Amino acid sequence: MVVSLTKLAVSVFLFLLAVNARQMNKAHLRARQAEAAKRWALPPTLEKRAELKNITFHNPRASEFWVNGTAIPEVDFDIGPSWSGLLPISSAQNETRKLFFWFFPPGPQGSLDDLIFWTNGGPGCSSLEGLLQENGPFSWSWGQAKPTPNEFSWTNLSSILFVEQPVGTGFSQGTPTARDENDVAAQLVGFFQQFLEVFSELKGKNFWLTGESYAGTYVPYIANFIYENPDQLDLNLKGFWISDPSLSFDVVQEQIPAVNFVHRFENVFSFNQSFLAHLDAQNEACGYANYSDIHVTFPPKGLLPLPGNSRNGPRGCDLWDEIFDAAFLVNPAFNIYRIFDTFPILWDVLGFPGSFEQIQLSPIYFDREDVKNAIHAPASVKWAECSERNVFPRGDGSLPPAFTVLPSVIEKSERVVIVHGLADFILIAEGTRVVIQNMTWNGQQGFQTPIEPDSFIVDGVGALGTTHTERGLTYFEVELSGHMIPQFSPKAAFQIMQFLMGFRENP
Ligand SMILES: *[C@@H]1O[C@H](CO)[C@@H](O)[C@H](O)[C@H]1NC(C)=O
Ligand SMILES: *[C@@H]1O[C@H](CO)[C@@H](O)[C@H](O)[C@H]1NC(C)=O
Ligand SMILES: *[C@@H]1O[C@H](CO)[C@@H](O)[C@H](O)[C@H]1NC(C)=O
Ligand SMILES: *[C@@H]1O[C@H](CO)[C@@H](O)[C@H](O)[C@H]1NC(C)=O
Ligand SMILES: *[C@@H]1O[C@H](CO)[C@@H](O)[C@H](O)[C@H]1NC(C)=O
Ligand SMILES: *[C@@H]1O[C@H](CO)[C@@H](O)[C@H](O)[C@H]1NC(C)=O
Ligand SMILES: *[C@@H]1O[C@H](CO)[C@@H](O)[C@H](O)[C@H]1NC(C)=O
Repeated sequence: MVVSLTKLAVSVFLFLLAVNARQMNKAHLRARQAEAAKRWALPPTLEKRAELKNITFHNPRASEFWVNGTAIPEVDFDIGPSWSGLLPISSAQNETRKLFFWFFPPGPQGSLDDLIFWTNGGPGCSSLEGLLQENGPFSWSWGQAKPTPNEFSWTNLSSILFVEQPVGTGFSQGTPTARDENDVAAQLVGFFQQFLEVFSELKGKNFWLTGESYAGTYVPYIANFIYENPDQLDLNLKGFWISDPSLSFDVVQEQIPAVNFVHRFENVFSFNQSFLAHLDAQNEACGYANYSDIHVTFPPKGLLPLPGNSRNGPRGCDLWDEIFDAAFLVNPAFNIYRIFDTFPILWDVLGFPGSFEQIQLSPIYFDREDVKNAIHAPASVKWAECSERNVFPRGDGSLPPAFTVLPSVIEKSERVVIVHGLADFILIAEGTRVVIQNMTWNGQQGFQTPIEPDSFIVDGVGALGTTHTERGLTYFEVELSGHMIPQFSPKAAFQIMQFLMGFRENP
C-alpha cells in the first residue's frame, strides 16, 4: 500500500514535471514550427500560371550572355534561363569602362510588362549580394550549407536586372571617374542603353528602380537623371524602392536616434547601468534626447533643426560610435546590420557577414573560377563583395538626396516606397522619420497625420510594423528586420514590392 502510493506520487510528480518543464521532442518542435511557417508562405493569390515565361531575344549577341541554369556551381536545381556578362557604359570605340550585370526573366507568376533594376549600396558594394542573399531566384544566405530556391524571389513579380555599379564595383571594368551622383547616373544610363541594344525586347517596359543602403542615394539621383533626360532611355520609369536608405547626414540618421534605439532594445544591448546613465546624460547635453518628441510631429511645425546647427552634430556627441564600441565589449559578435546576432558568427559564402569579415572557407563564391566561367565574369578580377577601390576617387560631391532630388522624383513617380528595418543600427528608422518630416513634396511638408502602430499587416501573418501613405510616398517600418529587408523579412519585402508595382492596392 505504502509502496504503491509512493509509486503513484512519483508518477504524478513526473507527469507534472513533464508538463511544467515543457519537454518537447524534436518531432513536436518541428510540427509546431511547420504550422507557424504556413503563415509565411506566399499568398494563394499568386497562382501558378503556365511555365517559365518565353522571353526570346532576337539579337544574336544575346546568346553570348546566356547562362546555363543547370550548370551553376553548387546549385543542384535549375535556376532557369538568365543572361549575364559585361557591357560598356557607352558606345565609344575606346570605351574601357564596363559594368557587370545578371538579368533574369520573370518566373511563372511574373509580369512580362515590367523590369526591376536592383542595386546594392556601399558605395562600392556588389549587387550580386542582393541576388544571392536577398531577392534573386536562388539564395545562399548566411549560415546556409548550400543554395536553395528563393520562394520570395522578385522574379515572381517580373524581370529583374542586377548591375554591379558604379565602375569600380565587383566585376566591373575600368577606372572609376565618378565625381558625384549625376556622373554615376549618367554612366548607368549609358550602360542601360547598351543593354537595351542587345536585349531590345525589353525596351518600353515599366521600369522600377530598387536598392538599399547607399543606394538610397544612388536611386533618387538615377531617377532624377532619367526623368530629366527622357530621350536617353527607352524604358517607362514608374517608381522606386529604397530600403534602409542613406538620405541625409549621419547626425540625422545615426546620432539623433542612437540612444533611443538602445532603450528600445535595452535587453539586447545589455549595457551596464553606469554606461546607460552616461548615454542618457550625453543624449540630453547633445540635444538628441526628446528630439523626435519635440520636432517629429504630424504635421510638422516648421523646418526641423540640426542639433548644434551642424551637419556633423555638436562636438563630443558621437554617441553612435560610443554605442558601437560598447556593444562589442558585451557581444563580440554584435552585428550593426541586425542587432540580434550573437555567437556563433554565421558563415557567409560572400565573406561579409555582420560587422566584420569571417570567411571561414575560401574562396568566396563569386571569386571561384568555375562560378566566373558559368556567368561570363572576367577571370582576372579578384571579386569582393565591397570594393577596396574608391568608386568616387575624390569623394561623392553630391548633397544627400533629401536636400536635393528626392522630393521632385517622388512627385514625378507613380509610386515610391521608403522601407526601414527596425533592427538595423547602421541606419536607424527614427532618423528616416526625421528626414521625411523635414521634406516638402507635392505641396506639403512631411506626413500630415501620424504613422500608426501595427499598421503594416503582412498577409496571413498580421501586424509586422507600420506603414503610412501620403501624396505618392509610402513609408514602411518592418519589425525584427535588419538592414537587408529582402534577406531578413522576404515575405514583407515581396508584399511591399507587389504594392509598389501596383499588383495590390493596399500596402
Ligand atoms: C517562344 O517564342 C519563340 C519566338 O517568338 C517561338 O518561336 C517559340 O515557339 C516560343 N516557344 C514557346 C515554348 O512558346
Ligand atoms: C547545361 O549544363 C548541363 C549540366 O552541366 C549540361 O548537361 C548541358 O549540356 C548544358 N546545356 C547547354 C545547352 O550547354
Ligand atoms: C575616347 O576618345 C575620346 C575622343 O578621342 C576621348 O575624348 C575620350 O576621353 C576617350 N575615352 C576613354 C574612356 O578613353
Ligand atoms: C517563386 O520563384 C521561385 C524561384 O523561381 C520558385 O521556386 C517559387 O516556387 C516561386 N513561388 C511560387 C509561389 O511559385
Ligand atoms: C524628455 O524626455 C524625458 C524622458 O522621456 C521626459 O522625462 C521629459 O519630460 C522630456 N522633456 C521634454 C521637453 O519633452
Ligand atoms: C531640414 O531642412 C532644412 C532645409 O533644407 C535644412 O536647412 C535643415 O538642416 C534640415 N534639418 C534636418 C534635421 O535635416
Ligand atoms: C560599463 O560599460 C562601459 C561601456 O562599455 C565600460 O567602459 C565599463 O567598463 C563597464 N563597467 C563595468 C563595471 O563593466
